[in-house]
Amino acid sequence: MKSKQILIKFLGYYKKRGHKLIPNVSLVPENDSTLLYVNSGMFPLVPYLSGETHPLGKRLMNVQRALRFFEDIDNIGITNRHTTAFHMLGNWSIGEYFKKEQLNWVYEFYIEIIGLDPSRMYASVFAGDEYSPKDTESIDLLKKIFSKYGIEAKENERIFPYGREDNWWQRGDAPGELGGPDSEVFYYLGEGTGIGLNPAEHQDEFLEIGNSVFMQYRRTNDGGWNELPQKNVDFGGGLERIALISQRKKDIFQTDNFWPIIQKLEKLTGVSYNKDGKTKKAMSIIADHMRASTLLVMDGVIPSNKDQGYLLRRLIRRMVRAGKTLQLNENISVNLVSSVIEIEVLNYLYPELKNNISQIQQVFSDEEDKFRTTFEKGSNVVHKYLTNLQTVNENQVAESAFSFYESLGYPLEIFLEDIKDTNLNLDVIKVESIYNVLFKQHRDLSRKGAEQKFKGGLADHSDQVIKYHTATHLLDMALRNILGNHVTQQGSNISKDRLRFDFSHQNKLTSDEITKIESLVNETIKTDLPVNFILLPMDEAEKSGALHFFKEKYGDIVKFIISEKV
Ligand code: ALA
Repeated sequence: MKSKQILIKFLGYYKKRGHKLIPNVSLVPENDSTLLYVNSGMFPLVPYLSGETHPLGKRLMNVQRALRFFEDIDNIGITNRHTTAFHMLGNWSIGEYFKKEQLNWVYEFYIEIIGLDPSRMYASVFAGDEYSPKDTESIDLLKKIFSKYGIEAKENERIFPYGREDNWWQRGDAPGELGGPDSEVFYYLGEGTGIGLNPAEHQDEFLEIGNSVFMQYRRTNDGGWNELPQKNVDFGGGLERIALISQRKKDIFQTDNFWPIIQKLEKLTGVSYNKDGKTKKAMSIIADHMRASTLLVMDGVIPSNKDQGYLLRRLIRRMVRAGKTLQLNENISVNLVSSVIEIEVLNYLYPELKNNISQIQQVFSDEEDKFRTTFEKGSNVVHKYLTNLQTVNENQVAESAFSFYESLGYPLEIFLEDIKDTNLNLDVIKVESIYNVLFKQHRDLSRKGAEQKFKGGLADHSDQVIKYHTATHLLDMALRNILGNHVTQQGSNISKDRLRFDFSHQNKLTSDEITKIESLVNETIKTDLPVNFILLPMDEAEKSGALHFFKEKYGDIVKFIISEKV
């Protein structure tokens, strides 16, 4: 069944059972600073699950875009099921129906409406701990449900009790978060029906396609759980995963949720998705990131170094990197926007995307171009470095990562991926943490340096400091005039009491030379030349032949000092 159909059937099924549709909200959490992105369908429902009255009633449903960025980004293209962005089909009981209705409906929907094979379906329930007992009620209900479809569902064979790590759901860790035991639906993907296998021990062969959370607790300040006044149901089923099974595909990228992007990639490269593992991984990364990025841009996110902007930046950078594997070295994101919009279910959910295509392309092309320059400069250098690495030492590699960042702007996360693609036996997490320490040390040092400079340097705009600053230029001119053009300034340091000027010259100055230099500077001062400045881009200022400090770091725009004579 096509994804759009699955979605329509889901909403129709729950509408018949009295559920009202609530909106699919932005990936950027509104009025909630505790989370960086919407990671589940329950996002807009927190106040109601906590006891507020919802204007649409106690039975609600939604399809919600969600991100699992940090959770799953490294799994993309490695497993057959993980994506950063996905859609959660949800139905909700706000303190009304509970386990019986919920469990019956989930299985009925999957088996009778979507047509999934019940003999391949398995269930898990909460095994119990100090806060909440073993969920025997769900076990009994599930046994009855399976028997309706002619299946004898025994505990530890068809129904598996698991602990808190597997069968307890909570959105986040902050005090006040809601949570509760849950019951997951697994689908067996292998040969036969899977009977005799434990899903927790055969994770690649089972796919989790739905989770009924019996949300009845609230997190306390000391990390415990108190019972809520009402018992809620939060069901979430990943639309793309349900499609994987219903469409009998081997992986999620072959479903109609991603396939138009993969097809376009096949066309652009002339290579088939199934050619080999490397191609498959690169195409999956691009297809996944393209979809997630498009949704983020649709939600108003612009690439930057913080918050959601950083997520978007990372996605675009990873696409550029994956593109290189496919020999796609330009405009990847720009070329693929139209394929994202071709995805039927996205078109259905977000009709506005079509009208925003050129704005979305603009955001992508600006960011992609910017990064591509850095990437093209850096990736060959990094590749050579990693290929020639003789000893495997995390300290040394982290230091190199830092110097690649400083000299080439090559981002750490891309460097870490480069490491993963080699056969070097390096602990990537260790490299990352050593790098972070180096980064922090460097930042603290440059802050101290800057404070030092600001005390007596250019940030001090007193008359005396300005005079000294102009005098450095005159001194530079005089030194070159008297000693020769080989003299280059190496730095300067000015305070209100003195100026210091470092320069390169092979000999100690003679007193005669010093006198000549002094008088040239003094004479020039006496002529009282007008001094002006304009702001120019660095490359234009350089083209003018203007003198500048060899080692000094300039920004993109520099102050260009003009005087008639100097
Ligand atoms: N909120 C639950 C989940 O995301 C349904 O798994």
